[in-house]
Amino acid sequence: MKPLVSPSILSANFANLEDDIIMLNKSEADLIHVDVMDGVFVPNISFGFPIIAAVKNFAKKPLDVHLMIVNPDRYLKEFKECGANIITVQYEACTHLHRTIQQIKELGCKASVAVNPHTPVMLLKDVLIDLDMVLIMSVNPGFGGQKFIEHTYTKIRELRNMANELNPALWIEVDGGVSTHNSLALLKAGANVLVSGSAIFGSIDPLHTIAELKNITPD
Ligand code: DX5
Ligand code: ZN
Repeated sequence: MKPLVSPSILSANFANLEDDIIMLNKSEADLIHVDVMDGVFVPNISFGFPIIAAVKNFAKKPLDVHLMIVNPDRYLKEFKECGANIITVQYEACTHLHRTIQQIKELGCKASVAVNPHTPVMLLKDVLIDLDMVLIMSVNPGFGGQKFIEHTYTKIRELRNMANELNPALWIEVDGGVSTHNSLALLKAGANVLVSGSAIFGSIDPLHTIAELKNITPD
């Protein structure tokens, strides 16, 4: 099975976002990954509702919105209204995670939870049945262009084993330091959604890099 590819526009050209969205529309990408950072949960601030709504205006692919913010419950409705199709909240930012997941689903979005590198995937066991996707952070969130953390492979394998029992349809997304160099190993470990920012937008031919990520398969 081919993976889903979700290019992260954190590494796009913000002065001319329209051109990059048009490129993604033409590409083999399946989703568009949108990183929202609040300067509290992570030591960086990215963008908010007006930019996401502007992206949605041009995007022909579903928006995969990754919320690196505290208290995400306060803003779920607004993220839906500005165009989110998948909403990912960080495990570490949610006190009542079960409730947050139900709220995302009630809005009609796919529900996803991200775990930081230090958070064991076992902590998701009791909500796994409710989730469409789990995002495994393979860097500490906050910035594009960081080095991939090798322990991620073990976490993906553990999560895939747990999902085989509890929710076989679960998508496993990997985010941080993903490139054509490690994508095959990530898929072999059990991931099936690849987020990639700097490796795509920093390449000479982003369309080609997306096609490579899409077409490197384990079989
Ligand atoms: C990091 C973000 C990532 C980031 C990935 O906190 O969640 O989505 O854009 O960028 P690369 O692929 O450059 O590591
Ligand atoms: Zn992300």
